[in-house]
Amino acid sequence: MVKVKTSFLCSACGDDFPKWNGKCPSCKEWGTLSEFKIAKTKIKKFKSFKDSKHLNDILSLNPGEKIKTGLKEADRVLGGGILSGSLILLGGNPGVGKSTLSLHLCSGVNIKTLYISAEESEEQVALRAKRLNISQNQLLLSGENEIDGILNHIHRIKPRLVIIDSIQTISNSGLDSLPGSPSQIRDCGQQLLEISKQENISILIVGHVTKDGIIAGPKMLEHMVDTVLYLEGDDRFDHRILRSIKNRFGTTHEIGLFKMDEAGLKEILNPSEMFLAERSKNIAGTSIYPSLEGTRPILVEVQALVSKNNYGNPQRNVNGYDHKRLAMLIAVLDRRIGLDFSNKNVFVNLVGGLKVDDPAADLSIMSAIASSIMDNPIEEDLVLIGEVGLAGEIRSIKKLKQRLIEASALGFKKAIIPASSKKDKLKNIDIELESVTFVKDVFKIIF
Ligand code: TYD
Ligand code: MG
Repeated sequence: MVKVKTSFLCSACGDDFPKWNGKCPSCKEWGTLSEFKIAKTKIKKFKSFKDSKHLNDILSLNPGEKIKTGLKEADRVLGGGILSGSLILLGGNPGVGKSTLSLHLCSGVNIKTLYISAEESEEQVALRAKRLNISQNQLLLSGENEIDGILNHIHRIKPRLVIIDSIQTISNSGLDSLPGSPSQIRDCGQQLLEISKQENISILIVGHVTKDGIIAGPKMLEHMVDTVLYLEGDDRFDHRILRSIKNRFGTTHEIGLFKMDEAGLKEILNPSEMFLAERSKNIAGTSIYPSLEGTRPILVEVQALVSKNNYGNPQRNVNGYDHKRLAMLIAVLDRRIGLDFSNKNVFVNLVGGLKVDDPAADLSIMSAIASSIMDNPIEEDLVLIGEVGLAGEIRSIKKLKQRLIEASALGFKKAIIPASSKKDKLKNIDIELESVTFVKDVFKIIF
């Protein structure tokens, strides 16, 4: 039996302390410390050390091969593919499709892959693979849920990619805590990190996250891994968004779009068409915003409804945008344009469940709200873009060109853009441009 010592571990940052605290001394989160037992290992005497190497020698030896997954949407989010020797965390709510996506990734890579399905039996995984029409003769399945067993498998089989589905179901029996507890997750995560770097194996770790992050064990894995991906989705829609939160080898804020149907996840290569498919035309309260998610332009319909409030405080509700930002936009409409919201409820919805955190959407959202309160529809072949400041001024935004190319490709004829954007780069795009400085000038054009 391994000797154990009691310690208190923070589920948010993964730091440990000898005493319990209400507030984590490291990350200052409240109520995240819980008791756990660490296996006591003998302190290694300092015998050997790793030699340092010249940067140029390392670069000439190891160009950092990226393995293509065969799914363009996933490759883009990963920064070109799975880098050998990298540790990837795939998080998401239970049932969103993490296991399905992992199987799809296995089928595309065509390298020796070990799929540890500690959550489901090998037969269940095999049946799912059959349903998804996946045949990969280099794919090995195992139902092992003990970390030592998994490491043994890896040493014996020598795969190039390992999928751990999921981190909450594997454990180290040397610790007397349950699988899924912070101590188990940290210990298993650490061991997987070591083997991935030693043997140059890519490891994809699947982790469940609840909506408010209560069983947020995988959160602390975020510090350990190279790449953090989240698969997001909503029961109301069949599309799933794969988002990179952290990526040591590529850009973040990149998204990949998939559609879940009876044969698994399908890539959505033309998302704007999907988001605009059921677009309402000639109705007051809608506008089109050309958003940019990572490097990808996506046109989104913004809907707003302003209604009379009969009792209590007026409501301000928004789906897909920051509610504080919405309050600010309403205040600007009130003070700078003179629209009265004192007795009005405001509801805003970015259709299709896309979440936008780019202030470039300000102008479209304000225009949709104004259109609803004035009951005056906005032209249907127009897009609006710009960040709005407190003085009602329109500020420049990033990567305007890509957004306008997408709008033009989808048949939009006119775009309202910030006056400060440089127009010479936009000459070749087949779309009529209106540069504006203030929100009130925009309303003169569109209403
Ligand atoms: P799953 O990948 O098991 O989710 P997770 O691993 O994130 O918990 O997928 C679960 C859901 O996906 C399940 O409710 C059924 C649905 N699904 C499909 O709609 N089509 C399919 O082909 C598959 C495999 C799953
Ligand atoms: Mg699963």
